[in-house]
Amino acid sequence: MKLFLDTANIQEIRLGARLGVISGVTTNPSLAAKEGIGGREGYKAAVHEIADIIDGPISVEVVSQDAAGMIAEGRDIAEWVPNPWVKIPSTAAGFEAIAALARDGIKINQTLCFSVNQALLGAQAGSTVVSPFVGRLDDIGQDGMALVADIANVYQRHNIKTMVMAASVRHPRHCILAAQAGAHISTIPYTVLMQMVQHPLTDSGVARFLQDWQKAGNRQ
Ligand code: E4P
Repeated sequence: MKLFLDTANIQEIRLGARLGVISGVTTNPSLAAKEGIGGREGYKAAVHEIADIIDGPISVEVVSQDAAGMIAEGRDIAEWVPNPWVKIPSTAAGFEAIAALARDGIKINQTLCFSVNQALLGAQAGSTVVSPFVGRLDDIGQDGMALVADIANVYQRHNIKTMVMAASVRHPRHCILAAQAGAHISTIPYTVLMQMVQHPLTDSGVARFLQDWQKAGNRQ
């Protein structure tokens, strides 16, 4: 399972990229707004900056509500960076846009997926990857990770090539569960990436090795 960073914060992307474990980035209008990125040109400039740091797919979301608008936006976004994945919501207009953009050869991240049926529709329309939103389902008392597992199973059974990306990840346990459920990708906030790194026994172990080494008269 590959890991993507779910952020529009350039500093977080720089720090995450240094670890050598990040294969792509997902953004959305909320994440962009959180970083004070405004307007289409602002979003485009930020995405350019991200592409200079990360040599992988960068998901950029459309804001149009109708299919024609999504298609026009998607075609534009597809020209922004070398490896764009256009994020299209799992709506009727969205499926129409996914089908049209996929016919153009544009890669699609089908976002805001909350059911296996939406994932099946997206796969038929031509989504490159589908993003079930785990945390938002958990938030309303449902089992978000069960949806990831169900989509992964159905796709595998029917030999569907669309990838599954666990999104709306809230904590490191979600990453383990997503990998076990068969997700191809997990897109995670920077804080979760750092939580994945941490283990108190690793920290105390490193400190003890150094202490023992120095006690024996060695310098660092
Ligand atoms: C994924 O592509 C989305 O941008 C993201 O995971 C949404 O997560 P949230 O539910 O924390 O907003």
